[in-house]
Amino acid sequence: MVKKNTCVFISGQGTNLKNLISCSRENNFPIKISLVIYNNRKANGVLYAKKFNIPYVFINTNIKNYENKVLLNLKKYNISFICLAGFMKIISNKLIKNYPNKIINIHPSLLPKFKGLNTFSRMIANNEKKAGCTVHYVNKKLDGGNRILQKIFFINSNDNESILKKKTQKLEHRAFPEAIIKVFRNI
Ligand code: GAR
Repeated sequence: MVKKNTCVFISGQGTNLKNLISCSRENNFPIKISLVIYNNRKANGVLYAKKFNIPYVFINTNIKNYENKVLLNLKKYNISFICLAGFMKIISNKLIKNYPNKIINIHPSLLPKFKGLNTFSRMIANNEKKAGCTVHYVNKKLDGGNRILQKIFFINSNDNESILKKKTQKLEHRAFPEAIIKVFRNI
């Protein structure tokens, strides 16, 4: 199997990145992580790129035309697929146009509910019964692209934000690889 050269974009802890790196080392997993892009100097996740000898590039997404630097690097590493794993910046049209249906994102809620930030506090305030995560294609609308898959759990009455986050991330580590397999099975 020829694995697709993939770039993972991160801004934080990188637990999803770590999990994807480990999946991608399996022979029959469809992607190879060939590049990590991060936009936060304090993103611990970059340590996983270092540990596994994956090229990594810091991009300051607050500067004008930062996409040009992103695109140059994607080209340099022959990237054909992008996974957003806790990347806290809205992806611009310029990137979407260059990678149509080739960018996927993981979001810590059951979309279309709770798009955007602070999902867990809003779920608690809303007295939600269910939580979970969604993997979806990225388009122009925030957290609005076609859904690839979701995983659900039932919220306990004593679940606080940090417990919800833990439970959600545990599910994310199953959801993201499954979604990637699904994407490439359908191509
Ligand atoms: C994940 O829970 C992901 O769903 C969320 O950030 C976390 C990153 O964790 N993404 C968003 O909120 C995007 N809107 P990680 O850095 O440990 O993978």
